[in-house]
Amino acid sequence: MYRIAVIAGDGIGPEVVEQGLRVLESASCQFGFEVSLHRYPFGADHYLATGELLPDQNLQEIRNLDAVYLGAIGDPRVERGVLERGIIGRLRWDLDMYVNLRPIRLYSELVCPLKNKQPRDVDLVVVRENTEDAYIGMGGFFKKGTPDEVATCECIYTRRGTERVIRYAFELARTRPRKHLTLVDKANAVAAHDLWRRTFEEVARDFPDVTTATAYVDACAMWMIKNPEWLDVVVTTNMFGDILTDLGAMIQGGLGLAASANLHPGQVSLFEPIHGSAPRYAGQGKANPLAAIQAVSMMLDYLGEKKAAQSIEGAVEKLFAEGLLTDLSTSSGRSTGEYGDLVLGKLNETASVGG
Ligand code: IPM
Ligand code: MG
Repeated sequence: MYRIAVIAGDGIGPEVVEQGLRVLESASCQFGFEVSLHRYPFGADHYLATGELLPDQNLQEIRNLDAVYLGAIGDPRVERGVLERGIIGRLRWDLDMYVNLRPIRLYSELVCPLKNKQPRDVDLVVVRENTEDAYIGMGGFFKKGTPDEVATCECIYTRRGTERVIRYAFELARTRPRKHLTLVDKANAVAAHDLWRRTFEEVARDFPDVTTATAYVDACAMWMIKNPEWLDVVVTTNMFGDILTDLGAMIQGGLGLAASANLHPGQVSLFEPIHGSAPRYAGQGKANPLAAIQAVSMMLDYLGEKKAAQSIEGAVEKLFAEGLLTDLSTSSGRSTGEYGDLVLGKLNETASVGG
């Protein structure tokens, strides 16, 4: 029995999570495992009604569950950053989810905006550090609102934090056919990134079977468009990982398809689509839930239900192969629920042929 916290959140979050949960339920019947869902109301409505973001007591409960399934957080009615830092940020920091794993995989060239790129050219995984960097909120304002205003923001990188995420990335690279890991930083301009370079070189000695490369983040952004086939596993800082994975989502077919895992290996971990709450599409039933569905697949993989995870991923793959997914945009005319139906249909078909 897996105990899963569900935070559907804001905007399109609840709509896409609903489809993800349909797929989870179907997989649990098919593969014979049980889930109990613990639903939490956190997000803008709850905050506006109660002033609560993520109370300590609930955080403690979540700490003892097996996984968190999250839709999206963010709402224009609330001051910028309050929900993001108070809910997603807090979960990532307080539960010490130090790896943000973001696979970027092209399923069909029909949804790729790059010229002459095939699925085999776009198959990488970004391992984004998830607990440090400019995100931690160290800094502040002096003489705010005056012409002399000073704003500061400290980027911190610890040896421990850097090493553990780099180690994770090497371990991951080792399991992939190409066994190639690229460190992405800005060590030519940001002196502190020298810590990443040194740590990377030291850890590399423990992984002689993994080939390595280093790239500055600006060059990496260029490569992702020009030669994405050069990249296999990428390890990078929190903020660079944030930026590069939105770029990555676009080369794989859009944010509607990109899922992510926030991991602390061995402890409760969180699974979510990379996209945000997209308030302007909320409640219209036209958001594409494939990213949220893929997040379920990543969650099941993490929980050890490998077959179930693969069958969901396989179902999405087949839908592309059969040419059923060619327009993933909100103007495709396909509703959120119809995407769910397609994936469920494919899962059931596979089950009935015993595949
Ligand atoms: C992401 C998001 C978050 C981030 C925001 C909502 C704080 O963009 O998960 O990529 O920057 O980490
Ligand atoms: Mg982002």
